[in-house]
Amino acid sequence: MRIIVGVTGGIAAYKAVGVIRAFVLLGHDVQVIATEHALRFVGKPTLEAMSRNNVHTDLYEGVAEVRHVALGQSADLIVIAPTTANTLAKLAAGIADDLLGNTVLASRAPVVIAPAMHTEMWQNAATVANATTLASRGVHFVGPVSGQLTGNDSGVGRMADPDDIVAHALDVVGLRAEIGEVDAERRHRDLEGVAVLITAGGTREPLDPVRFIGNRSSGRQGIALASAAARRGAVVTLLAAHIEVEPPADITLVAVETTAELQARVDELAPTSDVVIMAAAVSDYRPASVSETKIKKEKTGDVLSLELIKNPDILAGLAEAARPGQLIVGFAAETAQSPDELLALGRSKLARKGCDYLVLNTVGWSTGFATESNAVTMLERAGDIVIEAQGSKLSVADEILTVLAGRLLEDQSDRS
Ligand code: CTP
Repeated sequence: MRIIVGVTGGIAAYKAVGVIRAFVLLGHDVQVIATEHALRFVGKPTLEAMSRNNVHTDLYEGVAEVRHVALGQSADLIVIAPTTANTLAKLAAGIADDLLGNTVLASRAPVVIAPAMHTEMWQNAATVANATTLASRGVHFVGPVSGQLTGNDSGVGRMADPDDIVAHALDVVGLRAEIGEVDAERRHRDLEGVAVLITAGGTREPLDPVRFIGNRSSGRQGIALASAAARRGAVVTLLAAHIEVEPPADITLVAVETTAELQARVDELAPTSDVVIMAAAVSDYRPASVSETKIKKEKTGDVLSLELIKNPDILAGLAEAARPGQLIVGFAAETAQSPDELLALGRSKLARKGCDYLVLNTVGWSTGFATESNAVTMLERAGDIVIEAQGSKLSVADEILTVLAGRLLEDQSDRS
């Protein structure tokens, strides 16, 4: 079935991601039409990744193929979630000043509306009249429900739960039975639509065309985090310095070599990420100069001294520039002799870096690298232990992600 999901400009726009994802998981072709205002609340790349289609916004794009009519004519179902008071009014009046308005007018498909607005707006006589008009024309309403609204107030106006919107919409077209299938899958998808940037592996700093300064990181823990996050519904970008294992297929992979390259890619990708996990072992220094030709010992003699220059601290920079709600996670592998020493080293590193979480583990000549298992202690910003996890790198990854998913949920409900 071809489903058009209209997304309009309200705080609840981020929840549209759950609606889109559920339809996609059920095998439907989802075309998202987002208003300009909606894109201030939820990113186009997120909507595109979730719907697996381009997002349509502009009435004047695709004019040659008469898109404003084509989308509406080809739809089997239109779901608008959230629907603002403004969109509700425009739909009631048949106004077509944007792509969504045109599409609804040009369609014979059933329309399901999930309003989201403040109680006063929902109860305003104008909105009541508009909703009544639409309902009398056969438009289906799901919600709004009562609950906490944006700001400190609560009351009726909150958008219905995405699961209920999907259930109701499928009911309208007689497909409710499909929902059971998606439920089982969604229970495990607590990072649905979350943009996660993970760095993994070890950076290498070239000395000459054949040699480099590197480290023993294999990238296994970072890759396990990428696999687990993708399985839980996250949109994952893996920035891989030198890695020794195959990365998962369902992520975006970006390969880097040096710390400077890693820094440039992090600068580019971090601003649009909800979570950044710095699992890479980053070279703290780079050679002051790189020889264009192979360094020859006839020239360098018995002792070769290298001049090294300190690299920028990427994690500290990320923590400083983090936007509200964004989670920054660091890793620290230490050669500690005891759990107490590990904790002390971790706490002072956490204070220096200023990140939200630091995941600590012990390394040594024969432990920590290139193994399939790990034992970590995860600290939160104030230095308290959040979890101690041990087992396969994948199970450790899952425990770390459970903490992050829980925190994102808390932050989200604080905001809505
Ligand atoms: N890190 C970073 N940039 C650097 C060095 C490290 O972003 N130049 C990040 C790593 O990816 C990791 C965390 O910082 O998430 C801790 O790395 P670590 O090498 O343990 O920290 P350092 O600050 O280099 O401290 P140390 O002196 O112990 O090496």
